[in-house]
Amino acid sequence: MTVSRRNVLLLGGLGAVGAGVLSLPRGEVEAKSVSRLSSAEMPKPFQAAFVKPPELAPDRTGVDPADGKPVNYYTVTEKAEMASILPRLKTPILGYNGIFPGPTISLDQGTKAVVRVRNKLPATHPNDGHVLATSTHLHGSASLPQFDGYASDVTHPGFFKDYHYPNFQPARTLWYHDHGVHFTAQNAYSGLAGQYHMHDPMERQLLPQGDFDVPLIISDAMFAANGALGYDDNTHSGLWGDVILVNGKPWPVMKVQKRIYRFRVLNCSISRSVRLTLSTGDPLIIVGTDGGLVPTPQRVANYRHAGAERYEVLIDFRKYKTGQRIELRNLSNPNNVDYDFTNKVMAFDVTDDAVNTSDPTWNTVPAQLAPANEVMAMTEKQATKVRKFRVKRNDVTNMWTIDDDSWQDVIASGYKKVAAEVDLDAVEVWEIENKSGGWFHPVHIHLVDFKILSRNGRAPLPQELGPKDVVYVGEGETVRLLMKFGPHRGRYMVHCHNLPHEDHDMMVQFRVGLKEDDNDPNDPMTAALPQWDG
Ligand code: C2O
Ligand code: CU
Ligand code: CU
Repeated sequence: MTVSRRNVLLLGGLGAVGAGVLSLPRGEVEAKSVSRLSSAEMPKPFQAAFVKPPELAPDRTGVDPADGKPVNYYTVTEKAEMASILPRLKTPILGYNGIFPGPTISLDQGTKAVVRVRNKLPATHPNDGHVLATSTHLHGSASLPQFDGYASDVTHPGFFKDYHYPNFQPARTLWYHDHGVHFTAQNAYSGLAGQYHMHDPMERQLLPQGDFDVPLIISDAMFAANGALGYDDNTHSGLWGDVILVNGKPWPVMKVQKRIYRFRVLNCSISRSVRLTLSTGDPLIIVGTDGGLVPTPQRVANYRHAGAERYEVLIDFRKYKTGQRIELRNLSNPNNVDYDFTNKVMAFDVTDDAVNTSDPTWNTVPAQLAPANEVMAMTEKQATKVRKFRVKRNDVTNMWTIDDDSWQDVIASGYKKVAAEVDLDAVEVWEIENKSGGWFHPVHIHLVDFKILSRNGRAPLPQELGPKDVVYVGEGETVRLLMKFGPHRGRYMVHCHNLPHEDHDMMVQFRVGLKEDDNDPNDPMTAALPQWDG
């Protein structure tokens, strides 16, 4: 029997948690709003000014004695702070350096990074009391396992951990977020997320930089009457807020020049997927996916974008008139819960500010971007194995699983149990099937970039024709993915990026280049321990 998500929402206990004096109205899923703010306190679209997250400066730079490569050293401090999200009320958040989104880290390929993450959070979460032990994942980086934010490799309040990032991959939009075991959803929702940009010479030449290279971190939230974040994941089905935030501001307005802009769009929602489109009917020009530049730009009238996916999009504002307002809208997708204004994301107001026409990217949509991308150049013939995975809800336990396995099973095995044992540098096809008609699952595979070969036997969607690390496995969909496992040996996670699903408990792991009883020098639980932050 297929139980649609809506039925589950209606049947399941709609228990509210924490500041959540909030729950979805019974019997009515498509509602006007879910926040408990008075109408005077409730934000309205297009009142707030757009902001860019600040860039993080390194504390110092150095050289890695092992290979002579430059290293940037950064520090971010996880802490509780008050944020200005709503027009008047303040909102308690947990943020990297106390802000949401966290500061952007920006560097060049070939420069390594060591990021010290200091956990200065309170001992427990102010809403539901879970212990605020965190694990920081740099999503999009082929990091060693002990620096990959392995869910159970947690750092407790009062400790720090140094994360080493290799930055050898092609230019891309990465993001860092909390991955603490079983509480990733609440921690990320509370604010522990930020972008990380890796540049390379080709990308610097082809695409807008600086002021015209703009992070758009889209999320959704619901608020209690006092301005605090509400949390209701509908019995672990998902959280759908009625307020859309971009870079932490509700439906902001950005002033733009008459030129081409590059937006690094990250869906940072813990559950909601969006389908973005412009109010003018003009195309969004996809130039990058999770793993970097696409071979050829793709023009789309709209596209679906799940949690954790990154799409780099050009918008061409040249032909618009001074004073014209262009809205970025959300057409939504099945199995999201929509409210009055969740169909809007942000707006752009066109100015008559002088455009620097000596910048070659001001009016250029490159014909080609990364035609030789290694991942996209792979062919299915190279694959030595096909593995099949089924994402589903277990009918008996009601837990989210991958082939009935979950992270609980990994913990119970002493972190040994794996869903796949892969040879180093093996090329494989992974087929992921979602039989359900009532749920979509954005599936993320750590370590690798993959090429989407097909969806339900057909070509991937136009926006997916670049290297990816998250794939939208929609209702009744089967996707086939091609990837090469390396360059590191060790254990890495695979999970749904609807974070309440991940936490309950749709996450497993695979092991690369090692047998179960081999000595693992990169054991994520022991190889790099947190240290007391004296
Ligand atoms: Cu963005 Cu395993 O996560
Ligand atoms: Cu990841
Ligand atoms: Cu899921």
